[in-house]
Amino acid sequence: MSSSADRSASEAARRRTFAVISHPDAGKSTLTEALALHAQAITEAGAVHGKAGRRGVASDWMEMEKARGISVTSAVLQFAHRGCVLNLLDTPGHADFSEDTYRVLAAVDCAVMLIDAAKGLEEQTRKLFDVCRHRGIPVITFVNKWDRPGREALELMDEIEREFRLKPTPVTWPVGDAGYLRGLIDVRQPGRMLRYTRTPGGAHKAVEAPVPGQRAALEDEADWSKAVEELDLLQVDGAVHDQEAFLTGRTTPVFFGAAISNIGVRLLLDAIVDLAPPPGPRELESGGARPVDAPFSGLVFKVQANMDPAHRDRIAFMRVCSGIFERGMTVTRAASGKPFATKYAHSVFGQDRSMVDIAYPGDVVGLVNATALRVGDTLYAEQAAVFPPMPTFAPEHFAVARPADLSRSKQFRRGIAQLDEEGVVQVLVSDLRGDQAPVLAAVGPMQFDVVSARMAGEFSSPVKLEMLPYHLARATDTAGAEALNRSRIVQGEALTRIRDKAQLAVFPDRWQAGSFEREFPEARLDHLIAAHA
Ligand code: G4P
Repeated sequence: MSSSADRSASEAARRRTFAVISHPDAGKSTLTEALALHAQAITEAGAVHGKAGRRGVASDWMEMEKARGISVTSAVLQFAHRGCVLNLLDTPGHADFSEDTYRVLAAVDCAVMLIDAAKGLEEQTRKLFDVCRHRGIPVITFVNKWDRPGREALELMDEIEREFRLKPTPVTWPVGDAGYLRGLIDVRQPGRMLRYTRTPGGAHKAVEAPVPGQRAALEDEADWSKAVEELDLLQVDGAVHDQEAFLTGRTTPVFFGAAISNIGVRLLLDAIVDLAPPPGPRELESGGARPVDAPFSGLVFKVQANMDPAHRDRIAFMRVCSGIFERGMTVTRAASGKPFATKYAHSVFGQDRSMVDIAYPGDVVGLVNATALRVGDTLYAEQAAVFPPMPTFAPEHFAVARPADLSRSKQFRRGIAQLDEEGVVQVLVSDLRGDQAPVLAAVGPMQFDVVSARMAGEFSSPVKLEMLPYHLARATDTAGAEALNRSRIVQGEALTRIRDKAQLAVFPDRWQAGSFEREFPEARLDHLIAAHA
């Protein structure tokens, strides 16, 4: 084995690439900040926060995001903990961006599912979990906000098991109900309790100190014995961590804490190092897999333009899948077979960038001004590789876009093409409507707001959007498209998706799709991947 293969294998082994999935407000920004702070990637609390009104907004860059307090874009935070390099990829917190989320999750090896102790599983948690399951990503659970009144721990475990058919295997367990936390039991060291002493303001680490079980039992008798009993119950029920079951998506190790006071954060960070899998061989389109010590290969999972208003540029985010990436190396873009020079490689977090000279499997590199790159692209060196294409979800909302100012048609076309390439929406066209009136298709309506904001702000071409009465899309072929256009009874339309030239038949609802099938039984009408499984 060559020394560079050895190096990529050993560097891969100490990488952990993960994302946090949660419902908005569960505490994702707070946890990200706490993880980074604990691992000391960022020295000042507040630097990661992406909420309106907070200072140092690093991960949210669009005005709209700030106003809504949601993170639409994705950035990557890298930090070190116990000899490992952790790459935390930010995911959009809203299901309207599920396609985006899916792409980010294509670039991680593990997810931390963050749950609000008072709310349990929420709508977005469910949707994001579905994506993880679909992709086979192992999930670590963190029950947050245990410093505030909330639900019973056992009840939360039941909910996860019942709703997700996923067995929770607590690794830490709270002593004291939500809002009355005395400490945490680490089930691997059951004879003691970890007690947290909070510091004023919560911006600094809560101090964690072990207390012997006997003392905890004396001082907090009722809470201690309740916790011990609950743990016994869980053990009898087989809720014990099993690495193999976790990696194959059958169980989820569970941690409790309060991100805001840094309670339980160290244990979670340790779990990411100890339990989350390092980058492994990556499946190829042709079958087989590319091992991490093969020559360089990378997957472009996100393309984002104009992240920094001061620099109008376009960044392609690439996860290194195998080998060693060195800035300046010339790689091949699998889709075109053309060489691609990687002169401008950065690590990107929000608006902060720094040059990356070298990156290993699991790391994410931002390739600046990579206009030739598209989401789903494979880049490789030496030995060819093609990773499977990123799936496109079935759109459920459709709108015709037109330039509000006809003298800006050129900017309009450029902007729409850019947003299509980034995958902000799917762009559909038909001969009937013409180029000047593309149909934008989205999984969630908020994607249209992003289009409107970015077209006006970045491309100086405000758009008029006219909603179409369609909510269902199916894949068809040329014959099917012609049949649909011929039909006099079915309400629907045939459109071509620019991105992959797929023919789509769109209908107001499944009854109209049904009438089409009855009218043209020969026509092809296939289901697309549902975003809301
Ligand atoms: P998000 O990114 O998932 O949307 O959530 P974010 O971290 O912004 O947290 C949402 C709210 O929950 C914030 O309160 C935050 O302070 C609070 N929070 C996060 N973690 C904890 C925790 O462990 N315990 C408690 N008690 N609260 C937590 P906010 O009122 O919206 O903002 P702020 O004014 O407190 O900053």
